[in-house]
Amino acid sequence: MKRIVILGSTGSIGASTLDVVSKFPDRFQVVGLAARSNAQILEDQIRTFQPKVVALSCPDAAKRLRARIDTKQIEVLDGEPGLCEVASLPECDLVISAIVGGAGLKPTLSAIQAGRQVALANKEPMVMAGQLMQQEAQKHGVTIFPIDSEHSAIFQSMEGHRKVDIRRVVLTASGGPFWDWPDTDLEHVKPEQALKHPNWKMGDKITTDSATLMNKGLEVIEARWLFDLPAEQIDVVIHRESIIHSLVEYCDGSVISQLGHPDMRTPISYAMNYPERVPLLPPLLDLGKIGKLTFFPPDTEKFPCLQLAYDALAGEAGLPATLNAANEMAVRAFLNNQIAFLDIPKVIQETMLTYSPSPLSTIEDVLDVDQWARRTAEEIMKTCGAPV
Ligand SMILES: NC(=O)c1ccc[n+]([C@@H]2O[C@H](COP(=O)([O-])OP(=O)(O)OC[C@H]3O[C@@H](n4cnc5c(N)ncnc54)[C@H](OP(=O)(O)O)[C@@H]3O)[C@@H](O)[C@H]2O)c1
Repeated sequence: MKRIVILGSTGSIGASTLDVVSKFPDRFQVVGLAARSNAQILEDQIRTFQPKVVALSCPDAAKRLRARIDTKQIEVLDGEPGLCEVASLPECDLVISAIVGGAGLKPTLSAIQAGRQVALANKEPMVMAGQLMQQEAQKHGVTIFPIDSEHSAIFQSMEGHRKVDIRRVVLTASGGPFWDWPDTDLEHVKPEQALKHPNWKMGDKITTDSATLMNKGLEVIEARWLFDLPAEQIDVVIHRESIIHSLVEYCDGSVISQLGHPDMRTPISYAMNYPERVPLLPPLLDLGKIGKLTFFPPDTEKFPCLQLAYDALAGEAGLPATLNAANEMAVRAFLNNQIAFLDIPKVIQETMLTYSPSPLSTIEDVLDVDQWARRTAEEIMKTCGAPV
């Protein structure tokens, strides 16, 4: 029986993880859950899965939850310290890190520092502080298992092979809803259009990141640190059908990839059960019926966010955290109808250009950069006419 904690249990990845738990009740016991403010969904999850401890980062929501459940049976913590406490529960074997954004950095780090194994969906902390997180993981004997479907595919395609033989990895990208739109139409994109992903059902932030291709940029940086590969060995190809989840090309010309229907329960289950596979039994992958798979090079002029991520990796150590923070601010403003879709890369680029390098040897240094970049992006957005 594996005892698990889910950070971000009320979100899309959290729900898919709990679905896997429900299918395999003999394998998993939920000991802790955490989210931001969604007390109603958390309450339902508590009744079904009966964890020992839960946390909400919003203290008012935690107060509402305490009034509705038996607090003699279940402890309700709040704030970031509460999240970190759930993440480092001694009676836990595996933490599923599925909070969205930089808010997941400290709780995920707490799990690592407490020596818990981590299954990582929350890519933003790896973008902000990948090197420091991997150093901590090494120090505490922690393996970070990827949940992102692309990184899971690479992880699976690397199994049994020598890393020195890798020529490059290729991340596949659906291209999002606007891949074939004329450039001029992108000026008028509305949030509800950006939130319609062609292949995946996900939270609002990652869905918007998929529409700008920033999601792929964040994944390039995530791959840099998860697999310790330089940017020159990480490529991206647009693959509209999201059937091939990514590829690893070896020095002898062999290319190994993992395929499957776009369903996050497959990579989640792989990370939770590693090295075993369990019978999720989705519909058979009928390639004859699918007929053809299509591929295109990414268009970084039309979607500059991907190039910005490569630029961040090539530059000063604080640039990925700057890029991430500016992106979070810009995406939120776009979803609130405060800036235009095409303003998102402009805000990020301008924030990155304003960055002046500072030492980045601790998590506190990273968080300083993060806070600075959020303030700077906010100032820049005022010039886009955003009432932030
Ligand atoms: N969805 C996917 O298919 C997918 C695939 C690959 C990778 N990922 C990555 O997985 C992460 C989660 O994505 P998602 O799509 O599941 O997002 P989501 O549906 O928006 O869920 C986000 C979760 O994070 C919680 N949260 C947000 N801010 C928080 C805070 N300040 N403190 C504590 N909890 C907070 C939310 O709680 P409330 O509900 O209370 O707000 C919710 O449980 C992201 O980093 C994303 O890039 C997602």
